[in-house]
Amino acid sequence: MNKVLLHCRPGFEKECAAEIQDLAAELEVFGFPRVINNSGFVIFEGYGPEDGRILMEQLSFNQLVFARSWFMVLAELKDMDTEDRISAVMEHSELLPKAGMLWVESGEGDEYRSLLSFCRKFTVPLRQAMRSSGVLTKKEHDKMPRIHLFLTDSGNGYLGYSRSDNGSPFYMGIERLKFPSDAPSRSTLKLDEAFSVFLTKEEQEERAHSGMKAVDLGACPGGWTYQLVRRGMFVEAIDNGEMAPSLMETGQVKHYSVDGFKHEPIHTNNRWLICDMVEKPDRVASLMARWFINGWCHDAIFNLKLPMKQRYTMVSDCLNQLSSALRHAGVRHEIKAKHLYHDREEITVYVHRRK
Ligand SMILES: C[S@@+](CC[C@H](N)C(=O)[O-])C[C@H]1O[C@@H](n2cnc3c(N)ncnc32)[C@H](O)[C@@H]1O
Repeated sequence: MNKVLLHCRPGFEKECAAEIQDLAAELEVFGFPRVINNSGFVIFEGYGPEDGRILMEQLSFNQLVFARSWFMVLAELKDMDTEDRISAVMEHSELLPKAGMLWVESGEGDEYRSLLSFCRKFTVPLRQAMRSSGVLTKKEHDKMPRIHLFLTDSGNGYLGYSRSDNGSPFYMGIERLKFPSDAPSRSTLKLDEAFSVFLTKEEQEERAHSGMKAVDLGACPGGWTYQLVRRGMFVEAIDNGEMAPSLMETGQVKHYSVDGFKHEPIHTNNRWLICDMVEKPDRVASLMARWFINGWCHDAIFNLKLPMKQRYTMVSDCLNQLSSALRHAGVRHEIKAKHLYHDREEITVYVHRRK
């Protein structure tokens, strides 16, 4: 019970490891991460026998920026008999809590393609075995613990579980979103994913609904604006580039060819600020602080582009800088940040002004 496994984007294992080690240390959980570059996962091993459990209970999954999903490891499966992997897994079934779902997972990316296809096939008989033994409910329940079997190859892996109230609700932490064929750019999926990761359904209904006003800094060709228009909002789109004509035809968008760093909002009652300008992250963080301090928006979603090196340090510094600027100005707020599935060399941040 001293280990947790964290999924991350392949190539970001070091950031994921540094982050869990820091956050664990804040809870006085000390240990070390095991990192294999480009594997898409990290194991954090605590020195105390119950450290995995302590982390799952006391550390909020939402605090983790670089982890897409996580679970507590209960057993390490080594050199499973490839003729009978079911028995190798079920040997440990008494360790598992009664669960509502089973996820057989692996890393993400081309290297894992055939292993992931095996994971999907293997899920069917393993689920059957777990249902017969009573570990798994007969029907899926999304409010119960989830069993994770993470395979590193066809004979080795980790078995454990996550809590439904403190983990990602998605298989491998990835929400599969459909690209809308009429959207002007693929980056539209990034904002769609951000809404769904950062806001509950109820919060989306309350905070991002029809009739609201929004500003999009660095808007062209309009993939992010598209998501706001789709939600019935009216958007000031700021960019020197060209906006997609289909968006302009909706009558919900006004385009201004000006510098996003100098622009001041035309309307005073903007609910949203979104920003996807490719700029230095500390500059973007300062700009976001300025909008909140001036009372120009209530909610913001923006990207922080990551540097080549020191990515975790930069993220921590920018988020601290933003939070402390808002605190000093007396702006009550909540900040969430995630390296989303649709993010590459950037993270996405959500800031909400508290009443
Ligand atoms: C990654 S693209 C935005 C894509 C857009 N979110 C979408 O989904 O279609 C970045 C945009 O930021 C714009 N940009 C960069 N610096 C800017 C600035 N200082 N002021 C306004 N726009 C800027 C660029 O012209 C570019 O169109």
